[in-house]
Amino acid sequence: MQNSRAGGGTITPGAVSEIDRILALSPVIPVLVVHDAAHARSIAEALVAGGLRVLEVTLRTEAALEIIREMSRVEGAVVGAGTVLNQGDLEASLAAGARFIVSPGLTEGLGRAAIASGVPFLPGIANSGDIMRGLDLGLDRFKFFPAVASGGIKALRALAAPFGRVRFCPTGGVDVASAPEWLALPFVACVGGSWLVPSPAADAHGPDVAEIRRRATQAAKLTRNS
Ligand code: 3PG
Repeated sequence: MQNSRAGGGTITPGAVSEIDRILALSPVIPVLVVHDAAHARSIAEALVAGGLRVLEVTLRTEAALEIIREMSRVEGAVVGAGTVLNQGDLEASLAAGARFIVSPGLTEGLGRAAIASGVPFLPGIANSGDIMRGLDLGLDRFKFFPAVASGGIKALRALAAPFGRVRFCPTGGVDVASAPEWLALPFVACVGGSWLVPSPAADAHGPDVAEIRRRATQAAKLTRNS
């Protein structure tokens, strides 16, 4: 649970439980870099049909906000924004209908703005100082990013040890082969990854929805230990 701590921001109770509800929806969050809004609906439909409802649309393409709007129309999809770097990105994402916010790192400015907005927020952390800054703000659900480059499972085990109630979503270098090992860790709520949607082929030739659905179905069956 996220909570309020001395010196931290005030988290609305709805946002508190909502981030856990979102992370619990599926074991894998597809991290999406989509260039063409015309492909948004079919990609989201294939992922949801495969059993992955939580979709992170990264703000790395011109069309990202439009893609958030389009994907949000797909029944069952819970669409959030990723690569949110500052308050401007946060506000644009919320205006586009993002239901949760993911950032690659945690700044106090973004953290306070996200908390004030009440939106479920999953900031990136890579070391103990990051986690402690998050705890000071009242946050205790984090994206471990970039997971493999930051030392992988060994590093996360060591990082998690002093922070009993903290839960993580490792992302960055996680793939279908390594996901089960990450998900077996009791402090891992879910994992994120871009492997669900082949790119850039998706944009050059239109999305291979059968393949996306196959990958989503496979990922949705993964079990976790948290
Ligand atoms: C992210 O933004 O979360 C990562 O770029 C996703 O990493 P991956 O491409 O290694 O899955």
